[in-house]
Amino acid sequence: DRLAGRFPVTPHPLPATQAQRAQALGDLHFGRVFSDHMAHARWTRDGGWDAHEIRAYGDLTLSPAAAVLHYGQEVFEGIKAYRHDDGTVWTFRPRYNAARLNLSCRRMALPELPEEDFVASLVDLVRTDVEWVPSGEGESLYLRPFAFASEAFLGVRAAELVDYYLIASPSGAYFPNGLKPVSIWVTQDYHRAGRGGTGAAKTGGNYASSLLPQRLAAEQGCDQVCFLDDVTGDNLEELGGMNLMVVDADGTVRTPRLTGTILEGSTRSAILRLLLDAGRTVVETTISLEGLLEGIASGKVREVFACGTAAVVVPLGRLRGDGFDVTIKGAEVTHEIHDRLTGIQYGRVPDPYGWMY
Ligand code: COI
Repeated sequence: DRLAGRFPVTPHPLPATQAQRAQALGDLHFGRVFSDHMAHARWTRDGGWDAHEIRAYGDLTLSPAAAVLHYGQEVFEGIKAYRHDDGTVWTFRPRYNAARLNLSCRRMALPELPEEDFVASLVDLVRTDVEWVPSGEGESLYLRPFAFASEAFLGVRAAELVDYYLIASPSGAYFPNGLKPVSIWVTQDYHRAGRGGTGAAKTGGNYASSLLPQRLAAEQGCDQVCFLDDVTGDNLEELGGMNLMVVDADGTVRTPRLTGTILEGSTRSAILRLLLDAGRTVVETTISLEGLLEGIASGKVREVFACGTAAVVVPLGRLRGDGFDVTIKGAEVTHEIHDRLTGIQYGRVPDPYGWMY
């Protein structure tokens, strides 16, 4: 409540009717439907952040010379709002996303947004569009904060005019088959990030560069692509939109350590905490593809799963690449951690961490 009202609301002149909303919420996929409003604030080099508002969701007017369209100076976040059985609506660790947005901003030479403004934008938009928070199994209001260089200038330098927006998309599961295991193509031809690059920032370019390898993975019949590091060409990094975890037969869980080329996922860090508190050994370490394949063959590795805000937790059932094609059968710990995490997020079990806001 302390934060509410920082983004004053201009009501949508023609909000969706109840029937239109019910229809839109009836058959939810990921990221296709949007709520009635969006939050906005604008930054200028001389004036700082200003003009905070909640206004009608709609197309943006942008100069064709806006720097983001040419040089990709942009950052974004992903966070969800969950409807609990008693009707209340909660987000998950919003300050984590606020801090990460600012890490990305720093790397992309964009102005940082005060954490309180970030959280206030979520509060004010979710309150305004609370009817858009769905209540079906596995559904949520996916929140997409983003900031970009809107200055009309073709010189290559950090923009002096920047816009922040927050849009909201009532969404169902990212993977249409839910917890069914997904297949992975491990690319040895492309890398997602290099040392000193932007791999640890959540910026559009990282995702743009993953599209071709993702398409090649799909051509191989795989659901997702997995990237290896660019130095050894053998160490697992991430899937591009999800982090990876490996469950060994002795119960240890390993995940690639943060080297500066991996995005530190909010779901990744929450899962590490949950696993530790469940008494498991958790290791952030280097995981080589060669070692992983040996472990799967020998039975030392039982499960591999991917995790992210959009995708939640999903088991990997098959790992393929040039010269290998292996099946992974186990998913017991994967299901356990999925249920523990979503239990907290959907308010089915108490939240001892104060994660829900
Ligand atoms: C998220 O998990 O929220 C992301 O931003 C990843 C994106 C590929 C959907």
